[in-house]
This record gives sequence, structure tokens and C-alpha cells, in this order.
Amino acid sequence: MSTQNTAPAAHALSASTRMQHHRRYLMCRPEHFTVSYTINPWMVPANPTDTAVAVRQWQTLYDTYLALGHEVELIDPVEGLPDMVYTANGGFVIDGVAYGPKFRFQERAGEAGPFIDWFRAYGFDTRVPVEVNEGEGDFLLVGDTILAGTGFRSTGDSHREVGEVFGREVISLSLTDPRFYHLDTALTVLDPVEGVADGGPERANIAYLPAAFDARSQAILAERYPDAIHVSDEDGAVFGLNSASDGRNVLISPRAKGFERQLRDRGYNPVLIDLSELLLGGGGIKCCTLELRGATS
Ligand code: ARG
Repeated sequence: MSTQNTAPAAHALSASTRMQHHRRYLMCRPEHFTVSYTINPWMVPANPTDTAVAVRQWQTLYDTYLALGHEVELIDPVEGLPDMVYTANGGFVIDGVAYGPKFRFQERAGEAGPFIDWFRAYGFDTRVPVEVNEGEGDFLLVGDTILAGTGFRSTGDSHREVGEVFGREVISLSLTDPRFYHLDTALTVLDPVEGVADGGPERANIAYLPAAFDARSQAILAERYPDAIHVSDEDGAVFGLNSASDGRNVLISPRAKGFERQLRDRGYNPVLIDLSELLLGGGGIKCCTLELRGATS
């Protein structure tokens, strides 16, 4: 059987047949955004940043989620914690259980407390981690499975811990390119929930940059997701994969031209959001977005 992912006939769903799923997200307005230290190759403190531009671009993302009908909660930004805007790293939430973060670098350690406090205040069943992990930056839920990244930030031990917390299958994937230091910079979940589309069952699907993973991880991904979209190095390098999907609308960087076409071919609706200022901190759309699954406000 062919596993190539270029045949449009196999994916001839029109935009209207992809099902949109409602989302609840946590975001943090980048009022204190700057790049004052380097913990990933994108961060160059000597390059100027413009906080007002960061806020404006972030606002567009926030407004777009609301316009699409999603809910967005906000956590207060803390002065001196410029990376707090990247809320994906603030935890991992499924069924109202919030597994907190334990940051790899001292520069971000101060964020763990505010995120845990926020989850508690909003009624989540909060789990304080023992192991180093950077939340949804490295843990992505695909159907019932947790894909877990390691190599730069979250440790392999955190993969065991996240599996114990949520009682789900965890698949460890190793990242090898320092530009793609979190799993959500190299892989995106297009259909987070298994569902029904076009009258038939819809398998949860992903898109990823094969070159960001070691050979073992590439083999696992190829076997489990034969229909996955393989994104080009060019689109990966502009953080095209750092995107957020509701099953139908996929928010991506306007610079990821090839990925935009691939999404359209598969019947998704790409929505272009420019977060170039936040890329100076090594983050994009997904980094600024933490999904809150299964709890009520
Ligand atoms: N400056 C932040 C860091 O290096 C960026 C985090 C990006 N977040 C993400 N989910 N990839 O930790």
C-alpha cells in the first residue's frame, strides 16, 4: 500500500467537511516581553525587541481565537519573566487535570509557581511535577496518545511521569536540531480529537518536520502516521509547525507557504498569523497557546 502523502484524491475533503472543535486556551499578554538571555538559538539579546509590536501581534492571535468561537483565559504576566507569554510551557492539561511545569533553565523557573497557582484558582486538579518538563511545548495529545519530546528540554523521566499522571500511552520522540528544541516546534497536531468527518471516521493526523528527529523517532512517526503531512525544511525553519488547529482552521505563520498549500490540499483552512516579534524569543503561535481540556470555568 502506498503511504505517500501527495495524492490529493485520498484527501479530497473540502474545507467545509473538516469539523471544527471548540477549544479553551490559556494565553499571557506579553507586556514584559524582551529578549534578555539566551536559552535557545533564536534568542539574541543584542537584537532589539519591541514590546509594543509583540503585544499587537499577540492581540491578533487572541482576537482570532475569539472570532473563531474559541474561549481564551488569561494569566497575568509577571515582570522579569519575559518568556511567560509562551504559555504552552506552563503545563499540560487533560480532563481537568493540570500537570505543572518544571523548567530546564533557571531563567524560567519563576514561571512554575504562577502557572500552578492559576490552575488551582481555576479549579483544575493540579499535579506538581518531580521531573523536568516544559508542558505542552513537549507533550502533544493525538487522539488518546501523548507524543512526548526530549533532547533539549523535557527529560525522558518526565515522559514516564506524564504517563503515570494521565494513564495514557506515551510515545517518546527525540529531537536533534537545537532550532527545534521543543516538540511543538517540529510537530503539530491537526486533528487532536478522533472524530467523524465526511460521514466516516476521521483519524487524528499530524504534520511534522522529519529532519528534526532522530532515525528511531522518524521510523515511529512514519509507521503510526502514514498520512502525516511532511513539512519542508524551509517551512520548518520559519516555525511553520508551531501552529494551532481546531480540526478545521489551522493558525500558521504567513511565511510557511508550502505548508499553507499542503493544508489547503487536505481540506483544512489555513489562517495566517504573523508573530515575527515573538519569534525573536524562539516562539510562535503554538508556544503562545496552552489548551485547557476538560474543565469548566
Ligand atoms: N524563550 C522560550 C524558551 O526558550 C521560548 C519557548 C517557546 N515555547 C514553545 N512551546 N516552543 O523557553
